[in-house]
Amino acid sequence: ALRSSFTRKAQKSEQRSQYGLQPQASFKVAVLGAAGGIGQPLALLIKMSPLVSALHLYDIANVKGVAADLSHCNTPSQVLEFTGPSELANGLKGVNVVVIPAGVPRKPGMTRDDLFNINANIVKTLVEAVADNCPDAFIHIISNPVNSTVPIAAEILKQKGVYDPKKLFGVTTLDVVRANTFVAQKKNLKLIDVDVPVVGGHAGKTILPLLSKTKPSVSFTDEEVEELTVRIQNAGTEVVEAKAGAGSATLSMAYAAARFVESSLRALDGDGDVYECAFVESNLTELPFFASRVKIGRKGVEALVSSDLQGLTEYEQKAVEALKPELKASIEKGVAFAQKQA
Ligand code: NAI
Repeated sequence: ALRSSFTRKAQKSEQRSQYGLQPQASFKVAVLGAAGGIGQPLALLIKMSPLVSALHLYDIANVKGVAADLSHCNTPSQVLEFTGPSELANGLKGVNVVVIPAGVPRKPGMTRDDLFNINANIVKTLVEAVADNCPDAFIHIISNPVNSTVPIAAEILKQKGVYDPKKLFGVTTLDVVRANTFVAQKKNLKLIDVDVPVVGGHAGKTILPLLSKTKPSVSFTDEEVEELTVRIQNAGTEVVEAKAGAGSATLSMAYAAARFVESSLRALDGDGDVYECAFVESNLTELPFFASRVKIGRKGVEALVSSDLQGLTEYEQKAVEALKPELKASIEKGVAFAQKQA
């Protein structure tokens, strides 16, 4: 029901937007890393949102052309470009939602953790600027390893005295999108109806689809559970291998990130029925961060959906326990990095 209400609303607002040039709300969204493989299609999808009045595109290079190109689309939002560190602060002023897909992607044979050394520094720099220029904004972290970059962002915000755990999100929407697609295919369900919560983190076995909580209710054999779980966990690697050195998921990621942006904007706009999975500060387990479904409102996370973690199958219970050591280590690695830099 939650999924289909999301979809109905998205469809309705899309229909409305096609008939008018006025935005239905006037939120400002910034994309940091906007000239990249994810950044470009993500910027295009955000440009189509009727809830956005200004789209700020920031990158260290090549963003001028992207902005000029997008600015010709006859949708309401104004597109502004900001190139290089000297323009970053201006790009963030007055922004309601900051999306961060800046950083290097995986090549075949790499884990997400292999990206740590480069991306940790990029996320640190960008989040420092967010703290200085738009500390009230929702922050969506896409840059991998999300299991570490989100704790890094939290530490940086704490050091700056502006940390609001309700407004910091690691984007795991692509795991949900993949789970929904694969389950619908396997079970011959209408895609639009399927919603699978995915919990834990965003790397390998820390990605845990809770297939027993699939809506609509559907039963799986043990073999199907194993096959679907492994496929969802390795779906990113499937794309990395298919692209053979040219990067990781960009188009499906942009689609998923745009959905998460749209949900956040609806929440900011007062919609009281917005639920998404995200990697957030959490007390659902003993770990300080954990991905789960969350209810999002005007002030960010309003509630964690704890019921998803109750009444799990034995397979899922074991998988939750099995993912904790890796997730804990990735969180601690991020925290240690940020504290060492302080
Ligand atoms: P890309 O290399 O195509 O684009 C990255 C962009 O970031 C480039 O335009 C680059 O100029 C920019 N950039 C680098 N340093 C920057 C800085 N200091 N400030 C601003 N921009 C900077 O990479 P792609 O494919 O777009 O992936 C981006 C990130 O997203 C990677 O870390 C990747 O692992 C991650 N990712 C996350 C997913 C998720 O589910 N959360 C899924 C897929 C990728």
